[in-house]
Amino acid sequence: MLQLKQIYKVFNEGTPDEKMALSHIDLHLSKGDFVTVIGSNGAGKSTLMNMVSGKLKPDIGQIMIDGKNVTSLQEHKRARQIGRVFQDPMAGTAPAMTIEENLAIAYGRTATRNLKWGVTKKRKELFREKLESLNLGLENRLNAKVGLLSGGERQALSLLMATFTEPKILLLDEHTAALDPSRAELVTRLTKDIVKEYGLTTLMVTHNMQQALDLGNRLILMDKGQIIFMSDEEQKKQLTIEKLLSEFQRIRGEQMASDRAMLV
Ligand SMILES: Nc1ncnc2c1ncn2[C@@H]1O[C@H](COP(=O)(O)OP(=O)(O)OP(=O)(O)O)[C@@H](O)[C@H]1O
Ligand SMILES: [Mg+2]
Repeated sequence: MLQLKQIYKVFNEGTPDEKMALSHIDLHLSKGDFVTVIGSNGAGKSTLMNMVSGKLKPDIGQIMIDGKNVTSLQEHKRARQIGRVFQDPMAGTAPAMTIEENLAIAYGRTATRNLKWGVTKKRKELFREKLESLNLGLENRLNAKVGLLSGGERQALSLLMATFTEPKILLLDEHTAALDPSRAELVTRLTKDIVKEYGLTTLMVTHNMQQALDLGNRLILMDKGQIIFMSDEEQKKQLTIEKLLSEFQRIRGEQMASDRAMLV
């Protein structure tokens, strides 16, 4: 479904700031796979997401979606196939616009151009229905400015908007990291429900190892731009935080004390 073949990405090549952000990335996801991605700061997780979304192009390598080579396809041309939610609750929505207007924009990505703007009665009903499914009472606040919502409410809305186009792939980049534990739990539950409902192929970056173990059917561990450990469905069931940490230590062989703090 999603294939990354021998991806390499170097930033600031030939300068003192040169950084190999991704190398030897080979990853093949089947439809409905839900892969959690962990790794310390700067490991290349967000860069990997940017490759899939088309925000960045690899220097070498290919990206295939449903057997089609999309490596050179621009980000906006992939947008219908890919939903994305970021760490920052401010990033996915337009704060000065209302909930309804934000939803209309997300919805507009699916419709033909002349239907893009404006909110028809039928569409309003659809929005209400979708918002109700979040169980946050947002269906009664359609005219509230999104900037007034709490971080958790905004992330829930972002998640809804990201899936409006019924994408094939969902990219979640630490989307619960900025939330308090109860809101994080709520957004995690919504994530599980939405992924299941639409059978989305999902990549989810998290620094929370327990969350990485609890969610999804596969897991990858990244370090210094490489995937250093990958577990399939069966292996993942047997994984524990201790096993993951010892795997990380075995591969890296050093710096355990600080990396433990970063990873957990
Ligand atoms: N646009 C860019 N220009 C230059 N360097 C970049 C750029 N984007 C990322 N990098 C560098 O590439 C490396 C990988 O960054 P990336 O953001 O993918 O890490 P990450 O695993 O998402 O880390 P974090 O957990 O901190 O979010 C880092 O060293 C980063 O500084
Ligand atoms: Mg990142």
